[in-house]
Amino acid sequence: MSMRSVVLVGLLACFATMVQADDKPRLGVSVDETAIAASNFTILPNGEGLPAGGGDATEGEPVYVRACLACHGVKGQEGMNDALVGGHGTLTGDLPVRTVGSYWPYATTLFDYIRRAMPYTAPGSLADNDVYALTAYILFLNGIVAEEDTMTAETLPDVRMPNRDNFVWAYTPR
Ligand code: HEC
Repeated sequence: MSMRSVVLVGLLACFATMVQADDKPRLGVSVDETAIAASNFTILPNGEGLPAGGGDATEGEPVYVRACLACHGVKGQEGMNDALVGGHGTLTGDLPVRTVGSYWPYATTLFDYIRRAMPYTAPGSLADNDVYALTAYILFLNGIVAEEDTMTAETLPDVRMPNRDNFVWAYTPR
């Protein structure tokens, strides 16, 4: 047996011992309903999964100023991170500006995204009412809803995004 084979057989033997040392696969602790609910909170385009509560743009503005403005700029523009407002009518031009308002097809995604990922430094820290209010505020700044329109699980799925019909279904229908 060559030196290389000896080393390999030795390594395999070690590995086999390590595997045998565990009498069962350590896949973690069993999950209960609370743990499942904490990570399973996707909202579908039709609004399925939206929680109770609500908020409008007037309520959203102070939350935005406190938690979002530093990165996304005054009224969602000219911040150091993505613009959340504007770009309307630019998508077919030479310099398309893709924002939530000009590009995203579903308003419900905005709720899901903010709740899941923002503020960038503290995702998951906002109450559902604040997320509704921020969603309303960003939609209002984009001219998509009125300032007094309250976003809830009932109203948000009915908000029609301007670019809604310009996406192509990439999968062949069966
Ligand atoms: C510390 C900086 C920071 C803060 C604060 C912050 N964001 Fe963001 N935000 C980002 C970054 C960075 C991205 C891009 C993330 C990526 O592409 O993965 C982003 C992306 C987004 C997007 C998606 C934009 C797009 O067109 O793809 C939305 C919507 C958004 N943020 C909303 C918010 C809201 C609402 C708040 C306040 C609750 C907030 N953000 C606070 C940094 C921040």
